[in-house]
Amino acid sequence: MILVTGCAGFIGANFVHAWLERTGEAVINLDRLTYAGNPENLASLRGDPRHVFVQGDIGDRALVGALLAQYRPRAVLHFAAESHVDRSILGPGEFIQTNIVGTFGLLEMVREYWGRLPESAPEGPDRRGFRFLHVSTDEVYGTLAPADPPFAETHPHLPNSPYAASKAASDHLVRAWHHTYGLPVLTTNCSNNYGPYQFPEKLIPLVIHNALAGKPLPIYGDGQQVRDWLYVEDHCLAIMRVLESGTVGETYNIGGWNEQPNLAVVQTICTVLDGLHPRSDGGGYAGQITFVQDRPGHDRRYAIDARKIARALGWKPLETFASGILKTVRWYLEHPEWVQGVTSGAYRQWVDRQYGGTKER
Ligand code: NAD
Ligand code: TYD
Repeated sequence: MILVTGCAGFIGANFVHAWLERTGEAVINLDRLTYAGNPENLASLRGDPRHVFVQGDIGDRALVGALLAQYRPRAVLHFAAESHVDRSILGPGEFIQTNIVGTFGLLEMVREYWGRLPESAPEGPDRRGFRFLHVSTDEVYGTLAPADPPFAETHPHLPNSPYAASKAASDHLVRAWHHTYGLPVLTTNCSNNYGPYQFPEKLIPLVIHNALAGKPLPIYGDGQQVRDWLYVEDHCLAIMRVLESGTVGETYNIGGWNEQPNLAVVQTICTVLDGLHPRSDGGGYAGQITFVQDRPGHDRRYAIDARKIARALGWKPLETFASGILKTVRWYLEHPEWVQGVTSGAYRQWVDRQYGGTKER
């Protein structure tokens, strides 16, 4: 049995589906159900005894302690976080609270639990086999100039946004809990993910959603910021590989070897949509592209050197961007009810606040 935080969110939900499909091992899912957490992402698991959903905060020590004592997981995987850069710019408080203070509380409760595990146990978890896996981002490394080599695990943490700073702080806490207390930790730093169940505040689902709704496709600044895109299932498979075979105390970078400027990503989505779901007026979706005011402190380029995980653990992405984006666009086209569910109420307030008229250039 494993305990996973944040599984009602985008990557966590994809992880639980991939995990149960491949291993069948039971999952305790601790999620606060913030605006980004959506029980519909896990709807197909209702009634499945291998998935126990618990609504709660990672920083609620009494709850976390009780869950660890009750279920005795062999590993804790930590996905839960506030994850959207634009929201962190408008309101960093929640990011500090969940990503830093929440991770601290979780680490303390896990340390207490781990400290009480037997050295070895014929059945159930033991101290040596236990793992805490921290899911983090490439954004902790800062930004790259066009000719810089991609981020290796040895790159210093130089975060630029409140989101990135809060994740960098959590990476440091995890590292310190290993070096000081011996907690058996693993950390992964991954590039931008895309795929099913991604909340349409992030670039790729936002563009698909707006395109279909006949709305502008907002490109920040000149659209030449570069990100390395990885299909979410590849990220999930990498995490599984690190959990099973990674060396305790080590960090593994995960990336898609797929650097692209934002404008090119949006143009590709438009082309895919033109093929799968042509506009009724005969025009192309690219006609909806609109350049808007840039994000403050916008990092120019991220790129991941994923050679360590390939060499040490034999992981490499299975999807290309062409195959992954096709699957993704198809998924959004086939799940209009999911999109409708997440784009009501509070979502509309966010869109008004972030894009409402004033930002167009
Ligand atoms: P998400 O925002 O879609 O989901 C986050 C989940 O965490 C939600 O279900 C939310 O309800 C839950 N949550 C938030 N605060 C909580 C709290 N205090 N207690 C319990 N649950 C809480 O995020 P995501 O995109 O799925 O990202 C998951 C993890 O992967 C994050 O740690 C993120 O930093 C990391 N990551 C994301 C990307 C990406 O491209 N999305 C890339 C690399 C790393
Ligand atoms: P995003 O999906 O928010 O991920 P991150 O900021 O974590 O990389 O954004 C991806 C890139 O797309 C980033 O460079 C910002 C840009 N972007 C836009 O140009 N327009 C948008 O409306 C959004 C949400 C993002």
